[in-house]
Amino acid sequence: MFHALKKCADVIKANQAVAIIAAERGHQVTLVEKTNSLGGLLKEDYRMGQAARGGDAPVADLTGLERPVRSAGVVGAGKMGNSIALVLSRAGINVALVDVDASLLNNAITTIRSSLETLAEYGSISNDDIPGILKRIHPCTDLASLGDVDFIEEAVPEVAEIKRQVLTKLDALLPLRTAIASNTSGLDVFSLAEFKHPERLVVAHWFLPAHIVPLVEVVPGPLTSAKTVNSTVALLERIGKKPVTMKGFARSFIVNKIQNAMAMAAMELLGTGLVTPQDKSWSFFQPDGSRALVQGNLHRGLHHNQVCRGGVTPPCNQGGVTPPLQT
Ligand SMILES: NC(=O)c1ccc[n+]([C@@H]2O[C@H](COP(=O)([O-])OP(=O)(O)OC[C@H]3O[C@@H](n4cnc5c(N)ncnc54)[C@H](O)[C@@H]3O)[C@@H](O)[C@H]2O)c1
Repeated sequence: MFHALKKCADVIKANQAVAIIAAERGHQVTLVEKTNSLGGLLKEDYRMGQAARGGDAPVADLTGLERPVRSAGVVGAGKMGNSIALVLSRAGINVALVDVDASLLNNAITTIRSSLETLAEYGSISNDDIPGILKRIHPCTDLASLGDVDFIEEAVPEVAEIKRQVLTKLDALLPLRTAIASNTSGLDVFSLAEFKHPERLVVAHWFLPAHIVPLVEVVPGPLTSAKTVNSTVALLERIGKKPVTMKGFARSFIVNKIQNAMAMAAMELLGTGLVTPQDKSWSFFQPDGSRALVQGNLHRGLHHNQVCRGGVTPPCNQGGVTPPLQT
């Protein structure tokens, strides 16, 4: 058992190294953790969203968002939260990192230190940078002590009720100029949370490990202001991310939607009996190596299509107005 776990840890570390190098060389790095995750595609959950809501809402004074973000908060110091805090701090931003108890925060700081050491090992940062990055991260257990931060990323568990409570509290606590981003993987936080100022709520969906994968999906709700979207995108670009902005909310966003379709295709294949879980097929249950780290799904799919089907491309809307994604 221990041997298997150690092997898994080694594989993850090796993949991180490839991803760091690929990202630093300007390649797209997508789906790193997901395609390399131990469970593979079939273990990814299929997250469902809800219909977007409408209605009128007061417009908040978001003038503060026009100034460069100097301080930020990350709520939830788990797998995503600690990695997001690292990215923000690495970019010189002071980060309040909030979780429910001190031991979880201690674990988060230990994880951040270890991630920084890995980044230094592969030359992405210098060892001398580490103390400064750690110093800018301020652990705390109370949302009320977040203070006057410019930007918040919520990364609490993907449980509707927890999201609702935390987001609603953040809306009540934070100054109107603070943008509130949710790292939900697919929940319709826009209809969950009871926001007085829904124009400042946006989804900023990062990918694990957030300090390596450049992609962040930015998804507005029906009442999110353009200013909130633009300032979130500007912040993400400033800290070295490659945000992709959707024009509106669709459940599972982009990557998870595609990944879910892949999982469904895998299930369909299993259903035919042509492959079985017992086959331990490499393509079914194992990562597809460095290819997954440097190419997006569309690129890979179109290439495959070109080679295997003589280049017959499925119909898609080219140019003009793109219809909203069906949910
Ligand atoms: N893990 C992934 O690969 C991944 C990728 C992209 C997005 N996400 C999304 O990011 C979010 C967080 O996922 P995760 O994997 O980091 O979860 P996690 O369970 O590792 O971390 C969540 C943290 O939130 C803390 N928390 C719970 N209630 C809280 C509260 N009221 N106030 C402050 N902190 C609280 C928990 O103690 C925990 O440390 C989820 O919405 C998830 O869907 C996860």
